[in-house]
Amino acid sequence: MTTSANPSAKNSTWQALTAHRAELGDHHLNALFAADPARATRMQAEACGLFLDYSKNRVTADTLALMFQLAREAGLSERTTAMFDGARINTTERRAVLHTALRRPAGTSLTVDGQDLMTDILAVRERIRRFSEQVRVGSWLGYSGRPITDVVNIGIGGSDLGPLMVCEALKPYAHPGLRMHFVSNVDGVQIDDVLNTVNPQTTLFIVASKTFTTQETLTNAHTARSWLIDRAGDEAAVARHFVAVSTNAEAVSRFGIDTANMFGFWDWVGGRYSLWSAIGLPVVLQIGADRFDELLAGAHAMDEHFRTAPLERNLPAIMALLGIWNIDFLDAPTHVIAPYHQRLHRLPAYLQQLDMESNGKSVKLDGTPVGCHTSPVIWGEPGINGQHAYFQMLHQGTRFAPVDFIGVMERPAHLGHHHRVAFANMVAQAEALMRGKSATEVAAEMRAAGVVEERIDTLIPHRVFPGNRPSNTLLLERLDPFGLGTLIALYEHRTFVQGVVWGVNSFDQWGVELGKQLAARVLDDLAVATDANPHDASTAALIERYRQHTRQVAD
Ligand code: F6P
Repeated sequence: MTTSANPSAKNSTWQALTAHRAELGDHHLNALFAADPARATRMQAEACGLFLDYSKNRVTADTLALMFQLAREAGLSERTTAMFDGARINTTERRAVLHTALRRPAGTSLTVDGQDLMTDILAVRERIRRFSEQVRVGSWLGYSGRPITDVVNIGIGGSDLGPLMVCEALKPYAHPGLRMHFVSNVDGVQIDDVLNTVNPQTTLFIVASKTFTTQETLTNAHTARSWLIDRAGDEAAVARHFVAVSTNAEAVSRFGIDTANMFGFWDWVGGRYSLWSAIGLPVVLQIGADRFDELLAGAHAMDEHFRTAPLERNLPAIMALLGIWNIDFLDAPTHVIAPYHQRLHRLPAYLQQLDMESNGKSVKLDGTPVGCHTSPVIWGEPGINGQHAYFQMLHQGTRFAPVDFIGVMERPAHLGHHHRVAFANMVAQAEALMRGKSATEVAAEMRAAGVVEERIDTLIPHRVFPGNRPSNTLLLERLDPFGLGTLIALYEHRTFVQGVVWGVNSFDQWGVELGKQLAARVLDDLAVATDANPHDASTAALIERYRQHTRQVAD
């Protein structure tokens, strides 16, 4: 596998970019700003209530022109149309990719293979609306006749991260009488913790799984089901306390949930793009169907922007192409997501799946090697906490990591001065990463503080900041359902654009299969030693150690 941009495998624009990168060398961002007073205003874009300042990237107008050309030559416009129109662009699974249809407003139609998808989409939306209203007003009753107070979503990956991230982000809009819980981990700790705090008479479980075959989810769901039946003393209680969200009605029914209590979606909704489907049920329960419609409207507004805006003003395209520049031409191995808003604390984890499961691929659609690096490692935490943890590495480490600083403009009515402190820190960090601090500046600062010359010499190398470290600053007007919808869809399309330029299938995830297959075998081997599944010496020894430990505990 290539370790960096491989021009021989790429077209002439890619080669031109490689040459352009060599010409730019380590030209410092400070010099680029000094040379062009209009840089900050030229390198910004705005749409749907989102403002992007991308001037702190190591690019010039020439870089951007070449990157836009690269996207055009990759057929971005045609691929975008194909996705929105429902062509089967997920070729390895022979599926269309239509999460964008889920956020289309009522009154529009989308005909794919002679069928208007909107009829089915709106029918499920309506069922969810009616069900969630019943729960929210307290007319959906548990087995003992009491209304629901707690909702437990059991799911993992796309069936967990999206609704969890959104429920956290939109807490101010939450129904005051409903507590939301999310269980994804199969280790038993998470489900146990939740079951210990909820009342079986007033708890609703949502079993969320596109396939309804996911081991972790089904294990947790079975535990919850047994827990409920034990306490209710009657299997009939399941009908009042369990609903399913899935594409697999047969498996839902086999599990013991009446399909009348199932909310469906379709194979053309990828797991990590499923938040907008019935997988968003926890969100609807928390904020209500009208607010959920606003989330969809925000995403739809971004869809329209992405579909229609020229590349030069297209937020997702600009962010995607800067990402490719950083990854493939500046050799950035990772990308940091740093939201400066506590309610966005699960956004980095959500984007991790979105980006890494979509574009963590080594071959193109035709099966040939992609010939360059694809998805970087996406990581992050709320930025303000990151400053006291990982930012040291960002400022002075040997590798650089581009950062997306994400801020929310609206000051809360309460404790507004906190907002100012957070905003100041965010802007200052982007500035520090870009500007750095020279040896001359460090020496002058220490001299002014009265530090002796000998000590200054010793400390200079430790206190110098190289700067020239790129970042985007993304400002969201307010963190409401509409705004959050625009933000999420922005990153979805950013991921799509990168996948198109790299030529990979962003919508399959074969890379998760091998581990799942082997886990099923190992699970058998932990229970009974057989020769049926040969393992390498390391794996065999770990299995044996577990078996010995289990025997000792049993003795
Ligand atoms: O981790 C692999 C994956 O298939 C994800 O793509 C998906 O979001 C997750 O598992 C959960 O799958 P399901 O919704 O089918 O349980």
